[in-house]
Amino acid sequence: MNKVLVVGSINMDLVVEAGKFPAPGETLLGQRFSTFPGGKGANQAVAARRLGARVAMIGCVGGDAFGRELLGLLEKEGIDTRFVRTAEGISTGVAAITVSQAENSIVVVPGANHALSPADIQAAESAFAEADLVLCQLEIPLETVEAAAMLAERHDKPFILNPAPAMPLPEGLRARTALVTPNEHELSILSSLPDSQWQRQLALHPERILMTRGSDGAWFAGSDGELHHQSAFKVTPVDTTGAGDTFNGALAAFWGRDLAELARLACAASALSVTRAGAQGGMPTREELDAFLGSR
Ligand code: RIB
Repeated sequence: MNKVLVVGSINMDLVVEAGKFPAPGETLLGQRFSTFPGGKGANQAVAARRLGARVAMIGCVGGDAFGRELLGLLEKEGIDTRFVRTAEGISTGVAAITVSQAENSIVVVPGANHALSPADIQAAESAFAEADLVLCQLEIPLETVEAAAMLAERHDKPFILNPAPAMPLPEGLRARTALVTPNEHELSILSSLPDSQWQRQLALHPERILMTRGSDGAWFAGSDGELHHQSAFKVTPVDTTGAGDTFNGALAAFWGRDLAELARLACAASALSVTRAGAQGGMPTREELDAFLGSR
């Protein structure tokens, strides 16, 4: 299995479950409050690790109770946290999440994630040398993402970017990215084109964009520009938080297979991930993934 280097965010998810999403100005009574480990970076690291990859992470937590707890949980998963820095005097990133009917809405306060700097990337150069590939998202400063892409290029390692939350990307970063994994909405922000233009966008970038589309699965264009579709696997969802992260973690874990097979494995892993509460709660092990695929 691959050695994956994840550069990204680490959050504590503060989750309320409610019968519906509140309208602006409305107060609702919810059913339950829970805290779960989260952050797109940490989630993707855990997803790849559970599927059998060796995973190291570069990130930043605050010098508070959430930071200590999250660091301990990453270590318990078997993730190499030598390059997760603790920034004293800053709060650990948190995400306020409302879950209703398995859908979610999320507000992230980055806290220490925004203290992750290009200097942290340089300090972790040995991790780039050791990795087979580098996986990154956009919950850390863009200049840090760019520094990671440059160092990946210097070490000749594929750089996979999950552009979430989406923002327009500098040309240099695009050029250094082997595969970008937006959902439909994120793709429209990256391309500054309406959502409806996604097929054209995929065809213009063969084998460079793998787009997720929720219950419609995943799409990409092959080297001939033809669109390929992987259907989603049908499950009963409990909580869709972290489904995209599981998809990306699986891609990284299985990187090296062809794109159609990667899309199949990643869709299966993300289907399993939504069957339990919390971003990381349902992320499957390799055995669980194999059993699920074997039963289809
Ligand atoms: O992708 C889901 C994640 O987004 C949550 O765990 C939350 O922390 C936010 O970063």
